[in-house]
Amino acid sequence: MLLVGLGAVSTTTIAGTLAIRKGIAPPIGSLTQMGTVRLGKRSEGRFPTIKEVVPLAELDDLVFGGWDIFDEDCYAAARTAGVLEASLLDQVRPDLEAIRPMPAVFDRQYVKRLDGPNVKKGKNKRDLAEQVVADIREFKRVNDCDRLVMVWCGSTEVFMTPAAAHESVGAFERALDANDPAIPSSMIYAYAAIREGLPYANAAPNLSADVPALLELAARTGSPVAGKDLKTGQTLIKTIIAPGLKARLLGVEGWYSTNILGNRDGEVLDDPESFKTKEESKKSVLDYILQPQVYPELYEKLCHVVRINYYPPRGDNKEGWDNIDLVGWLGYPMQLKINFLCRDSILAAPIVLDSVLFLDLAKRAGMSGIQEWLSFYFKSPMHAPEVYPEHDLFIQLMKLKNTLRFMKGEELITHLGREYYD
Ligand SMILES: NC(=O)c1ccc[n+]([C@@H]2O[C@H](COP(=O)([O-])OP(=O)(O)OC[C@H]3O[C@@H](n4cnc5c(N)ncnc54)[C@H](O)[C@@H]3O)[C@@H](O)[C@H]2O)c1
Repeated sequence: MLLVGLGAVSTTTIAGTLAIRKGIAPPIGSLTQMGTVRLGKRSEGRFPTIKEVVPLAELDDLVFGGWDIFDEDCYAAARTAGVLEASLLDQVRPDLEAIRPMPAVFDRQYVKRLDGPNVKKGKNKRDLAEQVVADIREFKRVNDCDRLVMVWCGSTEVFMTPAAAHESVGAFERALDANDPAIPSSMIYAYAAIREGLPYANAAPNLSADVPALLELAARTGSPVAGKDLKTGQTLIKTIIAPGLKARLLGVEGWYSTNILGNRDGEVLDDPESFKTKEESKKSVLDYILQPQVYPELYEKLCHVVRINYYPPRGDNKEGWDNIDLVGWLGYPMQLKINFLCRDSILAAPIVLDSVLFLDLAKRAGMSGIQEWLSFYFKSPMHAPEVYPEHDLFIQLMKLKNTLRFMKGEELITHLGREYYD
């Protein structure tokens, strides 16, 4: 498992996986470790675990590596992140200390609030990409790995839109040679991973692999790709609540979401350009779920506001408030308030683990390009240009489980259920 950025999410994923491996803690929140999938008819009572149905890599077989602009080892980085208690980290300390970040590809132009010493030098972006390719090969050799998966868990980069440099592999490679500003650091890692045929996921909202050039490359090298932006915290709740309100045709006039967050992610998102990337990712969710164009009377006037406030005392223990102004029968107003005291990285870590194991499975199953069945895990799911992204958590889960059934040649479940009554 190669993680770009050994911050709160990565260290919580790594330390958590090591702790689970030792039986110190349970893998709560992970479908690959605890989930089941119904096979056949309801009357058959077959609910095997996902692990029994598809051949996933075992946690005992995983090794971890990564890059960061800070040169702290993974134990020190986990202490800095402050998510997991020292008493838990100390039980896996030697394994964590053995993971030291490789020097990063980093340019402050794309993450304005950060700077660190552990950074590669190169004559241009092509040279930096070749250095990442060399890191990947060396990691594979030294750790005697059969397969690798890369996940961008680095900071959210400034808002960017697809440009000419992203149109084709040829244009992208010329842009690497020319040091084109349209290629941020995350795309250099994504290019290196995909060129090497590695599955690649993006835990952050920046474009990274979500451009035609890298999807063209993924098709050539057989790399499965997933992203963007892990669906945790407030957006997770939003994609649980909104489908329910819409299912009962309750109108929504306003949805005001605000957060306080005190970790390094919060500090980076305090920069308006990085926040814009996050805001776009968080705001699109309701439009797609509520479909105002299909239900103009209920959702056309929806006022959706998202705020993130950097508040250091809170650390990784984010607090989110949602105020939802609803409209019911005969236009009568109602309100729903949600106060979620969550732990961001505790919600994120099982998603990183699942994405890695499922992407590795997809690679072995010959599934390349965008893995829409993994939308379940992301705030801004990657999707084919001709379809809109599916945000409803329950549709996403059905898609995920049906994909597993499909891979095994099992009957797909439609929930029609007429056969029980004929
Ligand atoms: N915590 C969550 O639940 C959550 C949810 C959704 C998305 N995300 C996204 O995941 C990413 C990681 O979140 P986090 O809480 O771990 O943040 P973090 O700030 O703790 O960790 C990010 C790490 O990436 C490093 N980094 C930045 N640019 C880099 C580069 N070019 N190369 C290598 N390392 C680089 C930073 O030094 C830092 O250590 C963020 O973009 C965040 O927005 C997090």
